[in-house]
Amino acid sequence: MARAGSLLFLLASFGAVAVSANAWYHPRDHPVYDLFKRQNASAGALPAIGSTQWTAAYPTDLTKASVPTAWMNAYTAAKAAGKIPDIPVSTLGADGVPAYPTGNDPNKPPVCSSSYQCNLNNTAMEIWSAPDNFVGLSFDDGPLPPSTGLCAFLRQQKQSSTHFYIGTNILQNPTIFVDCMSDPLQTPAVHTWTHPYMTTKTDEQVLLELGWTMQIIHDSLGGRLPRFWRPPYGDSDARVYAIAYYVFHMTGVVWDQDTNDWMLEDPQDNPNNVVTNQTVITNLTNWLSGSKSPGLIILEHELSNSSVGCFMDTYALHAQHGWTTLSIPEVFNQSAFLNSWNQTTSVTPLDIAATPPSSVGPPAPPAAPTTAAAAGAQASSAASTSSSSSKSSSTNGAGSAAAISTAALLGAALCSLVFSY
Ligand SMILES: *[C@@H]1O[C@H](CO)[C@@H](O)[C@H](O)[C@H]1NC(C)=O
Ligand SMILES: *[C@@H]1O[C@H](CO)[C@@H](O)[C@H](O)[C@H]1NC(C)=O
Ligand SMILES: *[C@@H]1O[C@H](CO)[C@@H](O)[C@H](O)[C@H]1NC(C)=O
Ligand SMILES: *[C@@H]1O[C@H](CO)[C@@H](O)[C@H](O)[C@H]1NC(C)=O
Ligand SMILES: *[C@@H]1O[C@H](CO)[C@@H](O)[C@H](O)[C@H]1NC(C)=O
Ligand SMILES: *[C@@H]1O[C@H](CO)[C@@H](O)[C@H](O)[C@H]1NC(C)=O
Ligand SMILES: *[C@@H]1O[C@H](CO)[C@@H](O)[C@H](O)[C@H]1NC(C)=O
Ligand SMILES: [Zn+2]
Repeated sequence: MARAGSLLFLLASFGAVAVSANAWYHPRDHPVYDLFKRQNASAGALPAIGSTQWTAAYPTDLTKASVPTAWMNAYTAAKAAGKIPDIPVSTLGADGVPAYPTGNDPNKPPVCSSSYQCNLNNTAMEIWSAPDNFVGLSFDDGPLPPSTGLCAFLRQQKQSSTHFYIGTNILQNPTIFVDCMSDPLQTPAVHTWTHPYMTTKTDEQVLLELGWTMQIIHDSLGGRLPRFWRPPYGDSDARVYAIAYYVFHMTGVVWDQDTNDWMLEDPQDNPNNVVTNQTVITNLTNWLSGSKSPGLIILEHELSNSSVGCFMDTYALHAQHGWTTLSIPEVFNQSAFLNSWNQTTSVTPLDIAATPPSSVGPPAPPAAPTTAAAAGAQASSAASTSSSSSKSSSTNGAGSAAAISTAALLGAALCSLVFSY
């Protein structure tokens, strides 16, 4: 569970270098560009969402699925290039915490598990918080029936946000997906196909969990490939982040505050009503009226009308307290997709594991401010790692981990933006 209280840090302003989103990728003449073949995935070539042909395109049981050749080739190349570390899979303990075999300390590299709040300090792979004064708004676990009310509200408010979607939920709720995504301000992102603890999965299973979710979004949104993913329960490590980044070019997004709103309307996991509308609303109110440094990425869910209701009930506070609230890509001035700037810009046809084009979106994306206030980072000392409860949450640990210098994070990211493979 998140120790929300442990989060306050300092932090510096965003980046010292002008971020060019265009520099995220290899230049087109880079040799790696030839490694992967493109497919024509323009919208006209894709089956209608929700059609039998569309449904039939996805595996029914991931544990029995084999990895498509193109994804496997991209993985093999990345592995051979030393990009994917050899880290054993974790095992989920009865306490709900993923444990590694002896000799693999999750608190530091090379394992560096986000369930233990270890931070890779590389925002190309892993983001924990938004720039100062920004809220990077996102909702997890949809599309589901409560998404409809949420999306209507967002549309009415002209509020952009990012939806970390579960692949199987898209498969089961195509109409809800289409309804929400018909608002061009909404950004889809990957929350895996079956919502597992990703560090417990083999490299092959990680490929399938991420790849199929990218694929269904690609196939259902005019060939657009999502650029961001979120590990369920905040559980990822250096291996899993590397597969997401070097094979699929996706950046992981965790969070710096956690509402625990997933427990609402979930008597099994919330037997004593520890989490109520009121505790969630109180949490949100406190964060939104608190420090603006670092900016907020709050874990919220489109799982129930109650969780959605808590967001709506506190929405006005964003503006009242002077936050700039945007989708995840927008707060970083980055493209929402690997092959398109946003939902309304043109799409470069691109296969799932192919190298993205060297430039996406507007020719001149806005530059970041040029301040370089160094962060006196410190970390919340003992952000507790264990999440005591059983089946535990969407929150194992990741919540408190934001105690990191945003400046350091972004600095690292900016350096790593120069190359992408
Ligand atoms: C891709 O497919 C679309 C629709 O079928 C077609 O109009 C377009 O010419 C194709 N593009 C290429 C490069 O093959
Ligand atoms: C990331 O940076 C923080 C703060 O400077 C530091 O405590 C931590 O050890 C770093 N993480 C890694 C994996 O180096
Ligand atoms: C959830 O809210 C929607 C309106 O946004 C409403 O139509 C629906 O009936 C509600 N569902 C439940 C289970 O209360
Ligand atoms: C998409 O990006 C373009 C180019 O920056 C911009 O003009 C447009 O308003 C954006 N659309 C949305 C829905 O954000
Ligand atoms: C968030 O709510 C929990 C109860 O779910 C409470 O223990 C915690 O103090 C709250 N934190 C803030 C910052 O409001
Ligand atoms: C929590 O809020 C939702 C809507 O915001 C409401 O439907 C639900 O009844 C509330 N739950 C309780 C226990 O009051
Ligand atoms: C993104 O660009 C806008 C100007 O368009 C600027 O106000 C904002 O600070 C930038 N955000 C970041 C995180 O650099
Ligand atoms: Zn989730």
